Amino acid sequence: MEYILDMQNISKTFPGVKALDGVQLQVRPGEVHALMGENGAGKSTLMKILMGIYTMDEGGSITFNGQPYVVHNPKEAMDTGIAMIHQELNPILDMTVYENIFVGREIRRHGIVDKKAEIEEAKKLIAECGLHVSPTETLRHLTVAQCQLIEIIKAISVNAKVIIMDEPTAAITDREVELLFGHIRRLKANGVAIIYISHRMDEIFSICDSITVYRDGKYIGRGTTAELDESALIKMMVGREITDVFPKLETKIGETIFEAKHITREDNKVQDVSISVRQGEILGIGGLVGAGRSELVEGIFGMHRLSGGEIYVKGKKVQVHSPADIIKEGVALVTEDRKVTGLNLTGSVNDNISMVAINKTLVNGLYSKAKARKLSAEYIEKLKIKTPSGDQIVNNLSGGNQQKVVISKWLLNDPDIIIMDEPTRGIDVGAKRDIYLLIGSLVQQGKAVIVISSEIPELMGVCDRIAVMAEGHFSGEISREEFSQESIMRLASDIAV
Ligand SMILES: Nc1ncnc2c1ncn2[C@@H]1O[C@H](COP(=O)(O)OP(=O)(O)OP(=O)(O)O)[C@@H](O)[C@H]1O
Ligand SMILES: [Mg+2]
Repeated sequence: MEYILDMQNISKTFPGVKALDGVQLQVRPGEVHALMGENGAGKSTLMKILMGIYTMDEGGSITFNGQPYVVHNPKEAMDTGIAMIHQELNPILDMTVYENIFVGREIRRHGIVDKKAEIEEAKKLIAECGLHVSPTETLRHLTVAQCQLIEIIKAISVNAKVIIMDEPTAAITDREVELLFGHIRRLKANGVAIIYISHRMDEIFSICDSITVYRDGKYIGRGTTAELDESALIKMMVGREITDVFPKLETKIGETIFEAKHITREDNKVQDVSISVRQGEILGIGGLVGAGRSELVEGIFGMHRLSGGEIYVKGKKVQVHSPADIIKEGVALVTEDRKVTGLNLTGSVNDNISMVAINKTLVNGLYSKAKARKLSAEYIEKLKIKTPSGDQIVNNLSGGNQQKVVISKWLLNDPDIIIMDEPTRGIDVGAKRDIYLLIGSLVQQGKAVIVISSEIPELMGVCDRIAVMAEGHFSGEISREEFSQESIMRLASDIAV
């Protein structure tokens, strides 16, 4: 048996969307197989079919472990030997670790759940995985990386032969990525196949053996990571060559338009940090995950109490007690976690895009749906948001397209200073480039942009200046002429202040 999993001619139609159009996927035992494609290409949809979350259209066939494979729900998939770590981790937060590991397949004695046995068994599994958490801890108290490892433990404990990882590194630190890769290598050595979905090229080439590419729901091709290089892969995904991954538009840098001085948060997560940005300038904020970058901008934006600091917008001192105080002055914050602070998932694309700039949707003082639709149509086009219409529920968009909706809703408000926290997370290469161009055109109009990013090449490619934070402190600043991976890393790991 050459393939552990062989999917042929798989299609899936949603109302108004052909998400998959006769695609194929073949995976060998013990390999890490990357599934790649632009936002909305159909990757997550294919995986949900495999997990029994969606049913495929007529005509497709799936062979698993040499047998025809039919599933109706995730439990059946796991029982058969396929497990998935989802793109948006959705563990039931009030569940304990051991409950989560055994949910749906409880250990029973005389028909009653044997909690003691479950806790014991969970303890063993956790220790084997090198994780240090108590089986009775609730998931709410775990980090994203720990939750992921619990999902991996679950997959191992059901003896999964195929484990799907949908953007597993989107929300974890570099150190945790290394840990995850360690687990992947061990699984591989035991003959487990991993289907790996990520938009980060460096990861694909460091952990994956082969790659299958889709575009717009269609199969484009496959190859090994040895025979493909980054530009060949980009061409397969996007359908054209992209030479400048980080386009930088010419701008004129003017007066200082925004200043935050000596910002200290009441919870001390940020201490005495000052930043400023000029018209036409792109300021980057670098640092390791946990350095306090998001905490800084959330503090500035009135989402957390400050115990010290001053904020000046266009030379005027602003008292910020809540986000409304600073939004009013023309500042926008594109937040990091789109599910929690960015979007109303059950609302339509139109509703979400017009959410902040609600004033612009008024006709004679009343909310006009038609006006909201027109304004949002403009951004759907500008940012190439993949959706059948503006009436689509945001929850039905692919992850990357949801991120574009978040960006749109802030831009519609026409701010002068735009702070973006990890704006390209989960976004494909082509769309990333569109976002860089958009940022470029914003600063060309004399606006100022502040970008937080964990990807150093992105900061170096896009910014005029980079401020670096470490452990809640400001650790230094670098201008474009002095940019280098090393200089940024040195400041980022500058722990002794
Ligand atoms: N439940 C649903 N209802 C309607 N349309 C959907 C649903 N789920 C997905 N789609 C659509 O199917 C297409 C494929 O989406 P999918 O989530 O599979 O993309 P993806 O390749 O995982 O993208 P990303 O990289 O952004 O996560 C998209 O156009 C999406 O809007
Ligand atoms: Mg997806």
